[in-house]
Amino acid sequence: MTGDNRITKIVVLGGGTAGWMTASYLGKALGPAASVTVLEAPAIPRIGVGEATIPNLHKVFFDFLGIPEEEWMRECNASFKMGIRFVNWRTPGAGEARPRPHEGRPDHFDHLFGLLPDHKNLPLSQYWVHRKLTGATDEPFDYACYAQPAVFDRKLSPRHRDGTRWASYAWHFDASLVADFLRRFATEKQGAVHVEDRFTDAELDQRGHVTAVRTETGRRLEADLFVDCSGFRSLLMNQVMREPFLDMGDHLLNDRAVATAVPNDDERDGVEPFTSAIAMSSGWTWKIPMLGRFGTGYVYSSRFATQDEATEEFCRMWGLDPETQPLNHIKFRVGRNRRAWVRNVVGIGLSSCFVEPLESTGIYFVYASLYQLVKHLPDKRFDPVLIDRFNREVETMFDDTRDFLQAHFSFAPRADTPFWRACKELRFADGFAEKVAMYRSGLPVNLPFTDESNYYGNFEAEFRNFWSNANYNCVFAGLGFLPDNPLPLLDFRPDALASAQEVFDDVRRRRAELVETLPSTYEYLRQLHGK
Ligand code: FDA
Repeated sequence: MTGDNRITKIVVLGGGTAGWMTASYLGKALGPAASVTVLEAPAIPRIGVGEATIPNLHKVFFDFLGIPEEEWMRECNASFKMGIRFVNWRTPGAGEARPRPHEGRPDHFDHLFGLLPDHKNLPLSQYWVHRKLTGATDEPFDYACYAQPAVFDRKLSPRHRDGTRWASYAWHFDASLVADFLRRFATEKQGAVHVEDRFTDAELDQRGHVTAVRTETGRRLEADLFVDCSGFRSLLMNQVMREPFLDMGDHLLNDRAVATAVPNDDERDGVEPFTSAIAMSSGWTWKIPMLGRFGTGYVYSSRFATQDEATEEFCRMWGLDPETQPLNHIKFRVGRNRRAWVRNVVGIGLSSCFVEPLESTGIYFVYASLYQLVKHLPDKRFDPVLIDRFNREVETMFDDTRDFLQAHFSFAPRADTPFWRACKELRFADGFAEKVAMYRSGLPVNLPFTDESNYYGNFEAEFRNFWSNANYNCVFAGLGFLPDNPLPLLDFRPDALASAQEVFDDVRRRRAELVETLPSTYEYLRQLHGK
């Protein structure tokens, strides 16, 4: 009987965002047949950052739990994010929140959510590239192909006054409120057990499976499956299972951050519906707006800046006094465990893998891993095929994102400091170098085989094709890195080239209509949060 072998006891080690997301997701996926216990040491703080997300968060995670968007948004002081605005990635200089002038325009470009429209079986990007390289347009890629940049400029909302959404969006939220909200959800609604105690060591059987974890006060928690959510300490994966961590500092240089929260006068300044990524001397700074404040942090490389130098540049940019401003100094490691799942221990969250936060993928990695864990869930026999398949999925997810992030730094034209020069000397992984070659030759890269409604509605399709043609074009064209030639086929399609004008005109019309009718993000959020 297969039922006899079902996993019925799960211990989650760690109560950060990853720990409580894991407890609630597994609680929902496995129902009352499995008990979930979360062991959390209250004296060991959570990482305390992780405030920007990507659009599938609601569908893949909260919708799965049955929690309506408005409900969790209110609980977590959430705001909207329609993409990332990259500021000063092309012009030299120290950190400056305001875009510097670059070729007659402000130095910023937008990486937007959502897919590009197609025209005659080719994405709009290929038409824009043709027009740009033949001198037929001077309009930047983002403004030409999307309505959003003009909406960003005016800080307008991704939803109309009646609540309907007109664009794909993600969220900004308060990371500690999210973990607390999910803790209440898991313990009060799903029966998860919360044990506040410090993990000390683990008991293993002769196969090397963990049978129980022990705590400082002498507790012993037995389980069939253990999920390591202990953060960068990686207590079960790296320490007990001794699974090696593969450091990827040869792809991404940043390994430190200095972070804080800055009050915002929303009434005067509005609330931006996007994350900003502002280039600095030795890295970049995030700005994540929420009602009443924005979270911000300078992500830098300790090879090129000391903590004092980074703090000084960061505080100068925001006009903060480093002596009095509460600052969170964070050390991080970039890379992944060789295997995310070993015997009966799975790592989820920072204990398993982390790329630096430039594209806000940390929380995505958590629920994408949970989705894959449930898909590959074994019984007590721990079929190695299921484990290997899971490990391969996590590996591909991680490496693909690492490479795409590396390209942001490599193709940034600025080379004014040792950091930016060093970024250009890093080698791409072979598979990624092929994608770059495709882009150079004028081909679309990773074209999704579906339109936008299906793309976001089908996580399996999105997972397999996560960074797709629209992402590549937003970032590469935004940085000023263009294909060498337009797609040769287009020269045989003069009609398609001419009629593409209608699609560009549609973008303009839509933009004009939206800026006339949308409420401000501030106004919309105030109403949503009842403030
Ligand atoms: P976290 O460290 O938060 O939690 C670890 C838990 O383990 C804690 O509850 C602790 O008490 C517990 N623990 C540790 N030792 C223990 C012991 N001995 N016994 C018992 N319990 C123990 N992601 C994203 O999606 N968007 C973003 O914008 C960012 N930004 C960002 C910036 C920076 C600088 C970093 C470093 C990371 C991000 N992230 C992010 C990633 C995001 O913060 C992260 O993925 C989540 O917060 C998940 O963190 P964890 O829960 O894995 O670890």
